[in-house]
Amino acid sequence: MKPRGIVIAIDGVVGAGKTATARLVAQRLGYRHLDTGAMYRAVTLAATRRGIAASDLSALEALLPLLTIDLQPGDQGGRVLLDSEDVSEEIRHPEITRKVGSYADLPLVRRALVAQQQRLGQEGGIVAEGRDIGAVVFPDAELKIAMVADLDERVSRRHRELTDKGVNITAEQVRSDIETRDRDDAERDYGIANAVTEVIEVDTTGMTLEGQVDHIVALAHTNGA
Ligand code: DC
Repeated sequence: MKPRGIVIAIDGVVGAGKTATARLVAQRLGYRHLDTGAMYRAVTLAATRRGIAASDLSALEALLPLLTIDLQPGDQGGRVLLDSEDVSEEIRHPEITRKVGSYADLPLVRRALVAQQQRLGQEGGIVAEGRDIGAVVFPDAELKIAMVADLDERVSRRHRELTDKGVNITAEQVRSDIETRDRDDAERDYGIANAVTEVIEVDTTGMTLEGQVDHIVALAHTNGA
């Protein structure tokens, strides 16, 4: 076993359960959880609050170095702090979800966040998730997972998650949001074309959250955790 633990990179389609799974896998292994999507969401929120559109590159370039984004572990899910303010709920709001892609598309945003993510991961002992995580952020990760699940299941999971949080949204809206994001994701260039190492696909359709976590923890143990 490595003294500080391995790097586990989790990628996957929208609504496959990446965030919840990564958080619990990290808890089980005593690792840190790096939710990179939360970081893109925090930048989107910060820009939105200041009225900075994704097209205003110079304003964004000035804004990025001023932002402090911290991810803190928590039993009920990690907390996301934007300049010390807890924005964990606000960044999951559908408005931010719809806008985040246009900010996450920008190379200047990706450069800044990838650099921060690499700093956070350089000591190992981390479960990191995000679309570019295994190919761009941690190309040398000891374990790379891609989570997939059927559309129907992803819709019902995401709908339940949002309504549990008190967000007023129909299953049809969730389905349409997921379909749009699937299309955007398919067209988006995360820089992952040159991925080299093996990625293990985990189909979570019909699996419980606990089952997903058990499965990935077992894979982690066979890969040096
Ligand atoms: O995983 P999530 O839904 O919280 O991700 C939010 C958005 O950020 C989503 O549109 C994909 C984007 N994202 C990205 O471009 N690169 C990452 N490493 C993680 C997320």
